[in-house]
Amino acid sequence: MSVVRFGVSLEKDLLDALDEFVQKNKFSNRSQAIRQLIANNVVIQKWECNNLVVGSITLVYDHHKREILQQLNDIQHDYHDCILSSQHFHLDHDNCMEIIAVKGQAVQLTELSDRLIAVKGIRHGKLTMSRT
Ligand code: NI
Repeated sequence: MSVVRFGVSLEKDLLDALDEFVQKNKFSNRSQAIRQLIANNVVIQKWECNNLVVGSITLVYDHHKREILQQLNDIQHDYHDCILSSQHFHLDHDNCMEIIAVKGQAVQLTELSDRLIAVKGIRHGKLTMSRT
């Protein structure tokens, strides 16, 4: 893809915020940071207009909690069209982590993730989405 250069005028406080963002994320320059910010914004727009996105849902839970595995399984079967794969890690004696790779409309993935995270006994849950 060809690169186009353009000038940007910014207030000092916004420029400081940009430079802080560059430093914190270890970007090599401002252009890279701006590229990232625009890309993230495009993702958000895609979510809003309901395009196809990919992502992952990470869940951490205590597998001793009653019926949690059964419930997680039932919900995932309701959304089988969206689920690419899932991986289960036994973290220690009590805790499990599950990473579910998903693909579908942003609204569907959000709904699936909300349902999974709402299951009683989930200690941590997070959905991330990327544009395709
Ligand atoms: Ni486990």
